[in-house]
Amino acid sequence: MFLGSDALAVGPFTNRIAYLDEGDYVAIDHGSARIFDRDGKPVDRPLKMVSASAALVEKGNYRHFMEKEIHDQPDACQHTLSAYLDPVSGKATAPAGVDFSKVTRIQIIACGTAYYAGLISRYLFESLARLPVDIDVASEFRYREPPVIPGTLAIVISQSGETADTLAGLRWCKAQGLTTAAVVNVHESTMAREADLVFPTHAGPEIGVASTKAFTSQVAALSALALAAASARGHIDAAEEARLTAVLLESPRLIAQSIQVEDAIKALASDLAKARDVLYFGRGAMSALALEGALKLKEISYIHAEGYAAGELKHGPIALIDEATPVIVIAPSDHLFEKTMSNMSEVMARGGPIILFTDEDGARHARPGIKLIIVPKSDDLVSPLAFSAPIQLLAYYVAVQKGADVDQPRNLAKSVTVE
Ligand code: AGP
Repeated sequence: MFLGSDALAVGPFTNRIAYLDEGDYVAIDHGSARIFDRDGKPVDRPLKMVSASAALVEKGNYRHFMEKEIHDQPDACQHTLSAYLDPVSGKATAPAGVDFSKVTRIQIIACGTAYYAGLISRYLFESLARLPVDIDVASEFRYREPPVIPGTLAIVISQSGETADTLAGLRWCKAQGLTTAAVVNVHESTMAREADLVFPTHAGPEIGVASTKAFTSQVAALSALALAAASARGHIDAAEEARLTAVLLESPRLIAQSIQVEDAIKALASDLAKARDVLYFGRGAMSALALEGALKLKEISYIHAEGYAAGELKHGPIALIDEATPVIVIAPSDHLFEKTMSNMSEVMARGGPIILFTDEDGARHARPGIKLIIVPKSDDLVSPLAFSAPIQLLAYYVAVQKGADVDQPRNLAKSVTVE
């Protein structure tokens, strides 16, 4: 008999797990477990078979779990997307229980990296499905007392499904009578059990404290859901749906290609590891990826980093730019590229060293003196997926260069189950 706060903790010993409900307690000895509810009444909690076996949580030939999990992303996204997209019919299927044609608004609630996945998806739900999206970090949302708008679908996003603030946000929405959905990677988690609907990600167990494959799987699932919503609401026709479905289904291959920039990124790490501050800029969905890139760098390398929407540069952050402050720009050659180019000129004029993550077309327009990481060109729908792995690899190699404990950075826990 083993007690654990997460299925992964007991994964090496068993795959038969009983989940306790809120308020339950358990008396165990070497051969039995008796479970009681909050009133002291003996109760049965069903035994579940879980897939978190020891074999799934090994590092293989990788030095760190984070490195392995970055490389796992093509598979993680493919497994996730196959739950939402049908390659034969070219359709995106919304999970049973959700009718996007009746949804009037989406409220997204999440923390940390999961919140940034939500921010990326806002661009897609709004532009593709014409659905208004409100999004907040769970620790603010739960105390904000926002007015409840009928027809809102509340979506919580969480790798663990146990984050205390996100769970509180979910419970608040349920109490207001909203339909709730949980985008979760741990399918037996509290959020999965309590939400009305589960939108699963299939990233497999994520061990590194810095979230990588769970993040891209969340982005993949939410992108497919945005596509399903666009179709259900009549904002795209069957031909466009089939085209975008194919684009999304191709994204695991795109991610695998983007990981090939690994050596180029490794070469940049030693210089970047000397920085005290690093700024990340992007526009559109890439502004959310800029926030995620900055979070990844600060949590594992302990370098101070900030992410900004590039248009905000003039409104404050430009004052920070000097020769010692590297600026990471994430800019695919899309309709916003020219605008981001002019932001880069402003940075260069002030002596700021730039590392530009772009594609072949963007690279052709980059000014001399800018260091380039060239990611395969992609459709706007999947650009966040194409640029994620290179951004994660940058943080990873800087942390390795600094000799930091990549998988278990100081002061951080994988699941934040307390407020
Ligand atoms: C990301 O790298 C984090 N360590 C952290 O921000 C994490 O994403 C956040 O705590 C949310 O966790 P969850 O997805 O399990 O809810």
